[in-house]
Amino acid sequence: MNFNRRNFIRTAGILSALSLKEIDVLAAKRQMAASDKTVADDDESYWSNVRRLFPLTRELTYMNNGTYGPSPYPVIEATHEGMMMADQDGVYGNYDGTPPKLAQFVGANADEIALTHNVTEGINIACCGVPLKKGDEVILTTHEHVGNALPWMNRIKLHGIVIRKFTPAATAEETLSRIAALINRKTRVIACPHIPCTQGQVLPVKEICALARKHNLFSLIDGAHGPGMIPLDLHDMGCDTYAGCCHKWMLGPKGTGFLYIRKDFQNTLIPYHVGAGSDDGKWDIMTEPVTINEYAASAHRYYGGTQANGLYAGVNAAVDFLQGIGMDNIHRRVKSLGKYTQDSLLGFGDKIQLLTPTEERSRCAINGFIIKGVESKKFFDLCMQNKVRIRCVPENGLNSLRVSTHIYNNREDVDRLMEMIKKNI
Ligand SMILES: Cc1ncc(COP(=O)(O)O)c(C=O)c1O
Repeated sequence: MNFNRRNFIRTAGILSALSLKEIDVLAAKRQMAASDKTVADDDESYWSNVRRLFPLTRELTYMNNGTYGPSPYPVIEATHEGMMMADQDGVYGNYDGTPPKLAQFVGANADEIALTHNVTEGINIACCGVPLKKGDEVILTTHEHVGNALPWMNRIKLHGIVIRKFTPAATAEETLSRIAALINRKTRVIACPHIPCTQGQVLPVKEICALARKHNLFSLIDGAHGPGMIPLDLHDMGCDTYAGCCHKWMLGPKGTGFLYIRKDFQNTLIPYHVGAGSDDGKWDIMTEPVTINEYAASAHRYYGGTQANGLYAGVNAAVDFLQGIGMDNIHRRVKSLGKYTQDSLLGFGDKIQLLTPTEERSRCAINGFIIKGVESKKFFDLCMQNKVRIRCVPENGLNSLRVSTHIYNNREDVDRLMEMIKKNI
């Protein structure tokens, strides 16, 4: 892994209230060299070294990675350096390396990746660009985040499309059959999350995309929670678009994301949001007839203009950081901590309702629950006061709680939440 120890220590010193001890950094660096090795999900010595690379304080138990992930020092340092470079050398650009890096990380080609500032932007590019007419039907879940709800609701308002909804089930099989039951001759799109923000149930996206293909439908996936939590191979998944996030599970700078657009689908998805880089470079407003000659022969047709050098330098460093640990190791660790959370919640018996499926393939690092007889917002406020960060889920009438744990968390963090529950049931 490319990390400069002197700069690392300096940045840690500047940026962290708790300055990192050199020995911690060396230990962390040594274990990064283990990237090609399998790390056990319960190797607490390894994972506690990973935790030292984050500017988290001991007073705060942060278990809200589903909203955003804190960046580790190497990402913060790269972001800082990226900004410094732009401001010192005055060279325009320097983010062309990010699409190929992201592509390799998510199992796509570089010309299939558009840079975005967040998932919402990626979803909007996909949602607005898919050709639909009045009466065409789009399938969503009843567990949407506002970022995948409003763009489609806007198309109802603007173009008269129709939304059909399914509720994700406790098993992948049942979820698939609920989707299949909604498909009719007016259906055009399945636009569901890979992992809903509400309860973190991992949806069977590969089968959903296959179902879409079988019925000649478009599959547009909201990938807010996939990258950095689960190893991805988007070609294998078979989706038409996947709106990914770099600031949640990828632990990158806040305000960074990407949209994957399958190469063949680029002839179908209309670019409504264009600028520098979106055409073949031959644009000329002085020559009649004035029109775009050709769109760029890549996903660059869907975005244009100046990007933030520092933020994308941070995204590149985030990919290095995750791959330095190994996505398989990360997935195993977060899934195991998610299971520990589920088991702890189930330990309260009928006082708690665990909302996330326990089915092996349908669970990972996010869990939703309700404490019976306790208002979720009240318990959430109590957690905030006690410096335990989780999320309240008021969306879609769910009124539940959500706990999301990443590689910097451990069982003691989960236990702290359980202690709070114990005191309040
Ligand atoms: C499932 C889901 N979709 C979309 C979004 C929107 O993401 P962003 O804030 O990056 O636009 C989120 C954010 O939490 C989310 O959880």
